[in-house]
Amino acid sequence: MRLFGFVASLGLLVKSVTAIDLVLEDEASVKSAASTIAFGLASLYTGNNTGDTPGNLPDPYFWWEAGAMFGTLIDYWALTGDDSYNAITSQGITHQGTENGDFMPRNQTRTLGNDDQGFWGMAVMSAAENNFPNPPPDQPQWLALAQSLFNQWASRWDEENCGGGLRWQIFQFNNGFNYKNSISNGCFFNVAARLARYTGNETYAMWANKIYTWQETVGLITEDHAVRDGVHVNLADHTCESTDPNQWSYNAGIFLHGAAVMYNATNASSIWRTRVDGLLASATATFFNESILFEQLCEPSGFCNNDQRSFKGYLTRWLAGTTQMAPHTFDIIHPLLLADAAAAAKACVGSPPAPAFKGHAGTACGFRWTTGGFDGSTGAGEQMNALSAVMYTLVDRVAAPVTADTGGTSKGNPMAQAHEEVGEKPITLGDRVAAGFLTTAIAMGLVAGCAFVII
Ligand SMILES: *[C@@H]1O[C@H](CO)[C@@H](O)[C@H](O)[C@H]1NC(C)=O
Ligand SMILES: *[C@@H]1O[C@H](CO)[C@@H](O)[C@H](O)[C@H]1NC(C)=O
Ligand SMILES: *[C@@H]1O[C@H](CO)[C@@H](O)[C@H](O)[C@H]1NC(C)=O
Ligand SMILES: *[C@@H]1O[C@H](CO)[C@@H](O)[C@H](O)[C@H]1NC(C)=O
Ligand SMILES: *[C@@H]1O[C@H](CO)[C@@H](O)[C@H](O)[C@H]1NC(C)=O
Ligand SMILES: *[C@@H]1O[C@H](CO)[C@@H](O)[C@H](O)[C@H]1NC(C)=O
Repeated sequence: MRLFGFVASLGLLVKSVTAIDLVLEDEASVKSAASTIAFGLASLYTGNNTGDTPGNLPDPYFWWEAGAMFGTLIDYWALTGDDSYNAITSQGITHQGTENGDFMPRNQTRTLGNDDQGFWGMAVMSAAENNFPNPPPDQPQWLALAQSLFNQWASRWDEENCGGGLRWQIFQFNNGFNYKNSISNGCFFNVAARLARYTGNETYAMWANKIYTWQETVGLITEDHAVRDGVHVNLADHTCESTDPNQWSYNAGIFLHGAAVMYNATNASSIWRTRVDGLLASATATFFNESILFEQLCEPSGFCNNDQRSFKGYLTRWLAGTTQMAPHTFDIIHPLLLADAAAAAKACVGSPPAPAFKGHAGTACGFRWTTGGFDGSTGAGEQMNALSAVMYTLVDRVAAPVTADTGGTSKGNPMAQAHEEVGEKPITLGDRVAAGFLTTAIAMGLVAGCAFVII
């Protein structure tokens, strides 16, 4: 028995070191590696268990990250042809899109931000662009879901403060209502650009221009094409102040990809070419070290939070999408995708004790790609990042995203709206506490107290 145990553990050890064999540019090898990592990702999902809610990832993942996961799984299917996860993807998106087709599920209104909706919006855009199987006709369709979000965002555009822009949060009672950030405006921009290309409707292109210009005017996209995080609204004079200059990889990626889509939709206009090339140069200079992508703000210190640990995967997604829309970028981006795939696969040799990961033993992906091994950090972000790194090396082997004129079958509804803008649900004290409103209440109490003393 002892000997058996020894041999068995030795076997495991050997297996875990060679768990993911990846031969770059070998389609079968890439697909096999991607399938192993995708299985590990899907093993974290519980939304199709009896009694669980379709479309949600379990704690500690927020709602938006599930939308990001389904977007990743749609691209996984488009790149590899493996439809293993199409059923959970359709079910999850349709459930969270709600019967109103507006991605405003009441269960989420306590914390619903424009960017949270955005990751679902980009997932349904990918579904439309790749002819992901359409939902039954009595349910909201991929394109119409994206158009509903576009219309919601356009109606929330706030000219009164900082001359435009979307706020981070949708509801006034949420912390972050007075913050206008690049990711919320980036989601709006990215979806508007893709709707412009997909439908040919000029209104979407006009909005994409307007959003990009606002980002520049307010300093969130700098002259050297760095994308900064956000600006705070000054409630006294309606200007914007105290810019958060931090650069996150997903902010760079979301604008880069949207700009590439506009470049394509405008048949290579020089203004969009300048933006694409500038954003790409800035992103590669900021987020790559010796061709390996890293989340420069928090990865070296090891303090990336759960959300931030998924950002690298989105930059990877948007770099790959950029090569499709602006083919001249391929020679710059493709070598980076290859280097990252090799590095990420080496990080997928973990055997975490955590119960959530039910993928194949020895294939859990770590967060850092710079160490040549597994760094002990696991989760949906780490799995999505590595899956993206591996599978997007196939991007030049699949058809480019379609449009309504080139075979797209998803049915749209340009008039799709939100069913309820401010939520019919009365806001309870519990909601306010959950939303962080309490801190505001305390701050206001302090102000009131001071006023009393002065009087
Ligand atoms: C949930 O979906 C996954 C992936 O498709 C599948 O492997 C699993 O069996 C499903 N679970 C249930 C309870 O249906
Ligand atoms: C909202 O929560 C309830 C109770 O958990 C659940 O049954 C329902 O499916 C959820 N709705 C959505 C859209 O997530
Ligand atoms: C795009 O630009 C090229 C080169 O200027 C031109 O030949 C082509 O006709 C244009 N296509 C469209 C659809 O405008
Ligand atoms: C737009 O994208 C298509 C599909 O990838 C590509 O064939 C075409 O060359 C692109 N157009 C321009 C102007 O780069
Ligand atoms: C890039 O990687 C090298 C080698 O690992 C390291 O010495 C250097 O500090 C890294 N640079 C940044 C900006 O992290
Ligand atoms: C174009 O999009 C706008 C904005 O949603 C909409 O009002 C308009 O009806 C659309 N036009 C067509 C021809 O679909």
